[in-house]
Amino acid sequence: MNEATHRSRPIIPAERMKQLPKQFFADLVQRTNARIAEGHDVINLGQGNPDLPTAPHIVEALQQAAADPIYHRYPPFSGFSFLKEAVALRYKTDYDVDLDPASEVAVLFGGKTGLVEISQILLNPGDVCLVPDPGYPDYWSGVALAGAEMVMMPLLEQHGFMPAYDAIGEEHLRRAKLMFLNYPNNPTSAVASSSFYEETVRFAERHGIVVASDFAYGAIGFDGQRPVSFLETPGAKEVGIEFYTMSKTYNMAGWRVAFAVGNREIIRLINLMQDHMYVSLFGAVQAAAAAALTGPQDSVCELCAIYERRRDAFFEALRRIGWQVTPPPGSFFAWLPVPKPYSSAAFADLLLEKANVVVAPGIGFGEHGEGYVRVGLLAPEARLREAADRIGQLALF
Ligand SMILES: Cc1ncc(COP(=O)(O)O)c(C=O)c1O
Repeated sequence: MNEATHRSRPIIPAERMKQLPKQFFADLVQRTNARIAEGHDVINLGQGNPDLPTAPHIVEALQQAAADPIYHRYPPFSGFSFLKEAVALRYKTDYDVDLDPASEVAVLFGGKTGLVEISQILLNPGDVCLVPDPGYPDYWSGVALAGAEMVMMPLLEQHGFMPAYDAIGEEHLRRAKLMFLNYPNNPTSAVASSSFYEETVRFAERHGIVVASDFAYGAIGFDGQRPVSFLETPGAKEVGIEFYTMSKTYNMAGWRVAFAVGNREIIRLINLMQDHMYVSLFGAVQAAAAAALTGPQDSVCELCAIYERRRDAFFEALRRIGWQVTPPPGSFFAWLPVPKPYSSAAFADLLLEKANVVVAPGIGFGEHGEGYVRVGLLAPEARLREAADRIGQLALF
């Protein structure tokens, strides 16, 4: 048969593929790469990709484990017990939270996977998911794939970037089954208090809503303040789970390893879903993740101190150029108000074109992100200062 006898038919995607949200930042990434390719010295503070390497003892643990034939075989479904025990130990040590490793910890291929999975295991079409706005766009992806409806919870500066539960309408509350929270917050960098989580547990109990606390930046708190885990709150395990990733705490973003911890029925459902999609992560990655969780935590403290020094250097420089901004209490992001008359996208474009500085426009995180840009503290202090100086030369403040 020759080519002419085969007629190509269009590939027709499933309806759900059309529901997926547009990747807002793809265009910015493309334009950034184009400027770099043209030879410009671009300072890229637009992404959330940790710039520092994983600690050597974790890399060595992977190297050793990779040579061990035990890990060349299929790992157990739902992951090795030693890893789940290591997670439970970390939560006990850091937050005084008791977790049963067998039933209250699920191993994930990175937090992103779990954040999409939770919508698949809990939401039906017609259900509502409460989503922070501005917020991390992967929540939208999971809700869209489940065919459920998002109701945005505005995070406003005058309310400390916390959702106002009493502003959510009755009808939405009746249909709401799931809610995402994320503190320390991406993109606003706000940090939650214990009393906010106590209010959250009461709200979730009253309305039968599952809380998904995304604790991706849990290890990064400044000025001696340790961010609170949602699971520290009495009653939290009855209403929800927490996602904890190795990506930020241990600079292991490329390793793809994270956990869901908390409510055992939700953990069971996550594991059930994953049993149909994956065998677990490469065993050597699990061994290295366990080494990270149970080994010395000095590198975590040092990382936090590095981000704090970067924050201080950057905000000092911003003050010098006259940009009135509040330093973040946690996460590795700065959430900065855009000067008039720019929109967040127009301001980000201006910085890219005129200063070769990349920042993420707030509108990409939701309607209430308009008026801000997000800056990642993911470059050395000198580069952050230089970014501020280049912005200063535009004489906008
Ligand atoms: C708020 C938030 N949640 C979750 C993640 C997911 O991290 P990972 O998939 O690397 O575990 C990120 C990564 O940038 C994030 O910013």
